[in-house]
Amino acid sequence: MLSVLKLGHAEFKVRDLDKMAEFYKNVIGLTETGREKDTVYLSTSIDHHSIVLRAGADKAYLSKIAFQIAPADSKDLTAYLRSHRLDTEIRTGSQPGINEVIRTHNPDGVAIEMYSEFEPSAHSYSMRGINPLKLSHVASLTPDVKRIVQFYTQGMGLRFSDSMQDFFYFLRCGADHHTINLLSGDYSAVQHFAFELADISHITSACDTLAREKVEILWGPLRHGCGHNIAMYHFDPEGLIIEHCAELDRMSNEGLGYFDPRPCHEDRPQYPKAWDPKAAIAVWGRFPPPELFNTGVSTVAHRMTRDE
Ligand SMILES: [Fe+2]
Repeated sequence: MLSVLKLGHAEFKVRDLDKMAEFYKNVIGLTETGREKDTVYLSTSIDHHSIVLRAGADKAYLSKIAFQIAPADSKDLTAYLRSHRLDTEIRTGSQPGINEVIRTHNPDGVAIEMYSEFEPSAHSYSMRGINPLKLSHVASLTPDVKRIVQFYTQGMGLRFSDSMQDFFYFLRCGADHHTINLLSGDYSAVQHFAFELADISHITSACDTLAREKVEILWGPLRHGCGHNIAMYHFDPEGLIIEHCAELDRMSNEGLGYFDPRPCHEDRPQYPKAWDPKAAIAVWGRFPPPELFNTGVSTVAHRMTRDE
């Protein structure tokens, strides 16, 4: 059985590789761990790369999500993926720090890579810019949300954490409330991706860093309902939306089936559930501005504003 342990890295095709790499190094505070002709590898800490930037797009887009999985015989894993009608390819030496990956695609055509062994990076945190702890989660718009939720849950073994009715799903692979978010939309596109920060004081210093770098804060700081994370959002230089979050709910004990209790919880215990969107989006703070859906006005965008 496929057992996903953590989100490894996300890869984006970008227009201006050098400008984007400078932003992720100097403002976000990632460390450059490798560079090829058209590719820059950037890391938060232990992974060789948390973010991969590749040149070659007119408009930046998400091209790959990689997961660390439990050790498994690659032939067994390939057979399992094929039994779920998923294309599979084993690649060796395709990237630094990870020797072998099993590669497939999700129903929206985004490459999915899985690996069980990696070479830990030798560098420490950069202590520069925002300096996030780790890559937290990736949220995508998708035209067939049920199909892609089925891919991640039945195909890859992720678990349901919460949803907003039947149009926005939060799935976890470990203790963190969500690793993958899936939002019903008119077409497929990354909606945002998130870095985990230490706490609200780290969010505050991140806001100060963005102000100093003249990067406008798009939304937040606020506390979400789903996941109860404190969150703040901004654009990168090519319009990708980055979230910085802290205090995300955790389910330390899957056997209990509820999230670790916290004062901000509405339910006692806080079990996974389908939320009313008005309660789920923000416990405190403003509701999202239209710019949050710059990837394309979603059919559900209007359902996520307070006045509807
Ligand atoms: Fe998020």
